[in-house]
Amino acid sequence: GIPKFVKIVEVGPRDGLQNEKNIVPTAVKVELIHRLVSCGLPVVEATSFVSPKWVPQLADAKDVMEAVRNLEGARLPVLTPNLKGFEAAIAAGAKEVAIFASASESFSKSNINCSIEESLTRYRAVALAAKKLSIPVRGYVSCVVGCPVEGAISPSKVAYVAKELYDMGCFEISLGDTIGVATPGAIVPMLEAVMAVVPVEKLAVHFHDTYGQSLPNILLSLQMGISTIDSSVAGLGGCPYAKGASGNVATEDVVYMLNGLGVKTNVDLGKLMLVGDFISNRLGRPSGSKTAIALSRV
Ligand code: HMG
Ligand code: MG
Repeated sequence: GIPKFVKIVEVGPRDGLQNEKNIVPTAVKVELIHRLVSCGLPVVEATSFVSPKWVPQLADAKDVMEAVRNLEGARLPVLTPNLKGFEAAIAAGAKEVAIFASASESFSKSNINCSIEESLTRYRAVALAAKKLSIPVRGYVSCVVGCPVEGAISPSKVAYVAKELYDMGCFEISLGDTIGVATPGAIVPMLEAVMAVVPVEKLAVHFHDTYGQSLPNILLSLQMGISTIDSSVAGLGGCPYAKGASGNVATEDVVYMLNGLGVKTNVDLGKLMLVGDFISNRLGRPSGSKTAIALSRV
């Protein structure tokens, strides 16, 4: 059956903003994180300690992290692509990090400028450094169904990378449909392959909504026993190195569906909608959440 409680990992301040062309002021990012935490979200991914040349929008990672480091009520992980990023994240006060590998060789090259194997070697070093400091590490696998260059990705590749991340000590593995091409038809064999090597309670799913398939994919993932869902307020997002990737599934839409299923999340949907309004206004565009648009008309 479907889990009774689902942990939502809000990735708006990181995945949601990383692809924004106009630089969002640090104070807006900090306010966004504060507001998201006050909605009851248990995890809010705050920023990335990546190269500012690669992701200019998150060049203020240090300032953002330092401003929220003492915020209570939620865990605030950050992305770290290598030891340099890990050390900067810890110095700024991060208490949890995420590493991000890919199931596609081409995407690994375009996103982090190295092969899958090279990335795993780098990440083992990060995981080891984190272990010494008792810092929990989340692992992402990108392109779990499709890659912008290679097309379809085989479930066995996803399972391989997920297992490597799990074996190096990641407490959770988030399976990312980076370009949002997955349908339930592709999700079943992918999850079956991964669940054969990583316990289902350690898995999360991360959908981008390019083809509007996120909610059916999430429902199916829940039915297969997954109880951690990544999403982004107002459906913000997209990866700068994945051409055509649109926003993450909107957190409001996920919460609306889970409320309808009687699944607890601890998230206050009314408050969340106000956060969606706040950031959509700041970005000067309508919300990407159908639930937010529908409920704002009621
Ligand atoms: P590189 O150019 O190969 O790095 O980039 P390098 O080691 O050769 O160093 C080059 C320069 O970068 C040096 O500076 C380093 O100091 C600097 P210079 O001497 O030229 O002045 N540098 C750094 N600066 C700040 N922070 C760092 C860092 N590391 C090196 N951590 C690198 C390799 C991995 C750094 C780069 O490719 C990068 O930053 N990539 C990140 C791309 C990214 O953030 N993508 C989006 C996140 S992934 C995603 O969205 C998918 C996900 O949502 C799941 C899904 O949807 O599937 C997670
Ligand atoms: Mg993503």
